[in-house]
Amino acid sequence: MDSKIDIQTIADRIKNGQVTRIVVLTGAGISTSAGVPDFRTPNTGLYDKLAPLKLPYPEAIFHISYFSHTPEPFYAIARCRHPGNLKPTISHAFLALLAKKNLLHFLFTQNIDGLEEDAGVPADKVLWAHGNWKSQHCWKCKAEYPDDLMKTAIQTGEVPYCLRPECDGAIKPDVVFFGQSLPAEFDVKQSHVPEADLMLVMGTSLKVAPCSQLPRLAKEGIPRVLINMERTGDFGNREEDLCILGSCDDDVRQLADLLGWRDELEGLWKDT
Ligand code: APR
Repeated sequence: MDSKIDIQTIADRIKNGQVTRIVVLTGAGISTSAGVPDFRTPNTGLYDKLAPLKLPYPEAIFHISYFSHTPEPFYAIARCRHPGNLKPTISHAFLALLAKKNLLHFLFTQNIDGLEEDAGVPADKVLWAHGNWKSQHCWKCKAEYPDDLMKTAIQTGEVPYCLRPECDGAIKPDVVFFGQSLPAEFDVKQSHVPEADLMLVMGTSLKVAPCSQLPRLAKEGIPRVLINMERTGDFGNREEDLCILGSCDDDVRQLADLLGWRDELEGLWKDT
């Protein structure tokens, strides 16, 4: 279906106050230019690089049932997934600018790198739907594990184990693995989606539920904008869908230019 709107329409509606409640869903594509490979882009995505680890299938590395008996592959790649000292991208800064202008109704991120918050998105405006690296527990007995010991494990790639003598469980960061449920607040926060007057989806293949279903909850008639290298999900099925295919960073700069926010955006990003 041909779209009724273009990027100029989106900029005009934001500038004239027609759009004030933007709900955003982000995925790994907004962190690739920060140095974090995504998962599914052929050849460069993480899942195409795991052959040496001899996994039964690529996603097994993030499946709780596989991790429970074979945690080694996860720790072999933990360092390249851990935020460490990454700088947020201009796309993360754009989300922080939306929040600064009171236009960010809510942000759902599938990423665990925490770069949205590092860029300045207020914590009460974001849900880390797939958890994050901020804490870690024994997968078996749920005992807490010290941050400094976890940092060492991530750096060395050595599997850390539970400190309780009677437990032999491996330690897992508090990220949501396949086979685990999302944070309970996901069900509560998803009620923000139908409240949106614009849905913005950036850098995700929309391959993993339940996040992949969020864009379908947007009210009929409001613009849904996909900024992504490829068309994904059900984008294009609605007249008010707009697919801006390309790099997130280039496209947020183009949108910022149309909004007259470019200098403010670059300044905000420089300070992250
Ligand atoms: N600009 C725009 N789009 C990009 C860029 C970029 N610089 N880099 C990658 N992309 C796009 C890819 O084309 C792809 O459509 O981002 C998408 C990334 O898709 P995935 O690699 O599948 O990542 P994501 O959608 O976040 O995966 C969802 O799957 O493995 C699980 O838990 C993991 O949260 C992750 C979930």
